[in-house]
Amino acid sequence: MSFIEVKDLKVHYPIRTGFWNRVTDHVFAVDGVSLSIEEGKTYGLVGESGSGKSTIGKSIIGLEKITSGQIIYNGQDVTKLLNKRTSEYSRNVQMIFQDSLSSFNPRKRIYDILAEPLRNFEKLTPDEEKRRIHELIDIIGFSEDALTKYPHQFSGGQRQRIGVARAIATRPKLVIADEPVSALDLSVQAQVLNYMKRIQEEYGVAYLFISHDLGVVKHMCDDLMIMYRGRFVEYGNKQDVYKDPRHIYTRRLLSAIPAIDPANAEKNKLQRLKVEQEYQKNNSEYFDENGKVYDLQPISSTHSVALSSVQKGGNA
Ligand SMILES: Nc1ncnc2c1ncn2[C@@H]1O[C@H](COP(=O)(O)OP(=O)(O)O)[C@@H](O)[C@H]1O
Ligand SMILES: [Mg+2]
Repeated sequence: MSFIEVKDLKVHYPIRTGFWNRVTDHVFAVDGVSLSIEEGKTYGLVGESGSGKSTIGKSIIGLEKITSGQIIYNGQDVTKLLNKRTSEYSRNVQMIFQDSLSSFNPRKRIYDILAEPLRNFEKLTPDEEKRRIHELIDIIGFSEDALTKYPHQFSGGQRQRIGVARAIATRPKLVIADEPVSALDLSVQAQVLNYMKRIQEEYGVAYLFISHDLGVVKHMCDDLMIMYRGRFVEYGNKQDVYKDPRHIYTRRLLSAIPAIDPANAEKNKLQRLKVEQEYQKNNSEYFDENGKVYDLQPISSTHSVALSSVQKGGNA
């Protein structure tokens, strides 16, 4: 059962030009996407830079003005309540950003950084607060002396772990993680992801994991949404998307994952070329005359693809 449903979300940013600063056009950052989140699952939201991923994340958490669409939480329409930062919803939906440093107050010690969400959302006694914070620091693998330090005293990977700890402080049901490891070295990425997994096993939190890299999300996610120009081109569980990608854009992203085994490098390169050619040649089968992504159509109970109706019947 899903506890969050996003229905036909649109976020259009006005473009203002000229002396009068008039709105002359719009950026269709998010243009009609729907998704639902079940407890304890991990969803990968993947697409190239500028495709609208962060806008979706920020809309769900109430940091972005929604043009149209709805956000349903436990059956209730909360679209108009999203910016009320004290509601039950905002306690249960937290976010981690790519660069935790910029979202931490540099003059605060880690103890207070972790305590902040607790003080906003929960009335804990000092003892309870302390206990919770020690539990948090423990689950991300730090010892207690970290609590008296400042954010700049930690490495990038350590700061992202602190970001994860802060996001789960109020025991939310959903954490939106916007490129949480994109700025980190590969070995450090794996470490942060492992902590995130462990936390999920312990608390049953759901993740909406945003990334531009299908390689990174592969081991994290149950379900994937592939995004292009503000729309979903493909939506399915992990096997559907990695083993049977149907949209050319998904295949293109998959072919862009670098080969780990150098023996496969040549094969990969050929595959990449083939996909690239098909992408150029068969564009109209995947995008309408305005270059817009078609509506998603189910091709199985777990897998939907944005294909033209002509394509839908065929074995693309
Ligand atoms: N505040 C804003 N005003 C105008 N355009 C914006 C704003 N924020 C984002 N955009 C545009 O919306 C599109 C989607 O941005 P974003 O959601 O940040 O993409 P992603 O996270 O996938 O890189 C981009 O074209 C971006 O330039
Ligand atoms: Mg982004």
